[in-house]
Amino acid sequence: MIEQKTRSVPPRPSAMVESLRGLGYSTATALADIIDNSIAAGANNVSLGFVWDNKASSIFVLDNGRGMTEQELVSAMRLGGISPKESRHPSDLGRFGLGLKTASFSQGRCLTVASKTNAGLFCFRWDLDALADDEWSLYEGATLSGEGFLQRLNALPCGTLVLWEKLDRIVMAESSEQDFLDLMDVVERHLAMVFHRYLGASLTIRINEKPIKPWDPFLSEHPATWSSPAERINTPSGTIEVQCHVLPHKDRLDEKTYQTAAGPDGWTAQQGFYVYRNARLLVAGSWLGLGQGKMWAKEEAQKLARIRLDIPNSADDDWKIDIRKSVARPPPVVKSRLLRLAEDTRNRARRVFAHRGQIVRIGQAQELLQAWKVERSTSGLRYKIDEEHPAIKLVLEDAGHLGNSVRAMLRVIEETIPVQRIWLDTAEAHETPRTGFGGKPPAEIQNVLRVLFKDLVGKKGMSASLAKEYLRQTEPFQLWTDLIDELTEETLNEVAS
Ligand SMILES: Nc1ncnc2c1ncn2[C@@H]1O[C@H](COP(=O)(O)OP(=O)(O)OP(=O)(O)O)[C@@H](O)[C@H]1O
Ligand SMILES: [Mg+2]
Repeated sequence: MIEQKTRSVPPRPSAMVESLRGLGYSTATALADIIDNSIAAGANNVSLGFVWDNKASSIFVLDNGRGMTEQELVSAMRLGGISPKESRHPSDLGRFGLGLKTASFSQGRCLTVASKTNAGLFCFRWDLDALADDEWSLYEGATLSGEGFLQRLNALPCGTLVLWEKLDRIVMAESSEQDFLDLMDVVERHLAMVFHRYLGASLTIRINEKPIKPWDPFLSEHPATWSSPAERINTPSGTIEVQCHVLPHKDRLDEKTYQTAAGPDGWTAQQGFYVYRNARLLVAGSWLGLGQGKMWAKEEAQKLARIRLDIPNSADDDWKIDIRKSVARPPPVVKSRLLRLAEDTRNRARRVFAHRGQIVRIGQAQELLQAWKVERSTSGLRYKIDEEHPAIKLVLEDAGHLGNSVRAMLRVIEETIPVQRIWLDTAEAHETPRTGFGGKPPAEIQNVLRVLFKDLVGKKGMSASLAKEYLRQTEPFQLWTDLIDELTEETLNEVAS
């Protein structure tokens, strides 16, 4: 056998680590990565500290998890301490054996980790400024300024403290304390979202002593939220679960709920799939590259669609999970199923958006008598008034010599619908204009209803109850069934002919 010549070419530590700093973490995503480790270590209490001291500011994460022995801690500090190929406990949130280091280095140049178990408290530190060109030397113990933080860990029976100092990516020359506080808010909102399922159950995260409240992307408790049954899909790498939601229209929410439900990046940006891995949110709103013909973009009309998608950590490879735990791509085996579910949810969301939350709900077999219909032809779309709509039909039947004039009037209305205007106003206001008597006083709606009711009974010879039934299926009165219920025989006498 020919002996292959090899040379040992280890990476240059200082250069290597500098490159790893550019993986693209934000402070919030980096902290989420640290908290992943706390959760995986069984912690139910995590305290974050943002300590402002100009250039000497620091951030720490303290958990009451099971902690690490000296040997485990040294191994945890090693880059690539565990291979991504190793199978993990189903509840483990880690994969690459890198997060602790890469997340920390992305924000600061000095990382101290102290951990306490029955075997005692141990502390090690990476300092990028002291990293030699040819050696990975890990320091023992904390910095002088870091010493003070160890007290907090010492007060616990077991747990881990991660401390970031020399925050060169957070505190720049012109940074102020206010910037630091603003960053704390951003982090709070992000963690409230990423860990909302833990925060609602087994975990407390405090940020400078204040507990973080979970943010539920689906407004699951709200009666006007539409949710599909959860669907389980078996794939070769594990079972995934999907549940589709359409959130209530703005008109159905109070101002505060509407603002909060928007999420950290706003309504339009937060539509789409919410991908969870072991109940931890990886992707907060994305159409995952799905689409018919071309990839779906995030548009206003679909902003109320949010779909929960749960994947197990056995599927990491299939879903191409990245080190930052911020990307997940559906494997081909599930794409068509997800596409179908998403398509349906997007359509529902579009309807809720367009009808301002007033989803048409009449008996299943009955069709709604609409006032407008859409005509499609090779030259495009046209909106036409439907002459079968009772309010129009009644007039036309009774029009006599005015028939042609009424038809001419309807044509003029059809040909001058302010389509462009409606389109621009919708885009600007992020809402469709009001229709269907939305926001009008009941008296005004009642007046119109009574006239129609009288005509249906008087001219069409319907019984009062049949006329009411008919109105319930007629746009836009299907939205006002309580006012229809109030119509009686007496109403007929009250309405002036
Ligand atoms: N707070 C903690 N408590 C207990 N053990 C921890 C803690 N943080 C890290 N560890 C240990 O250190 C190891 C390395 O952590 P690190 O975040 O670098 O990688 P990982 O979590 O294994 O994978 P990933 O790169 O996907 O995050 C973990 O697997 C875990 O065993
Ligand atoms: Mg990790």
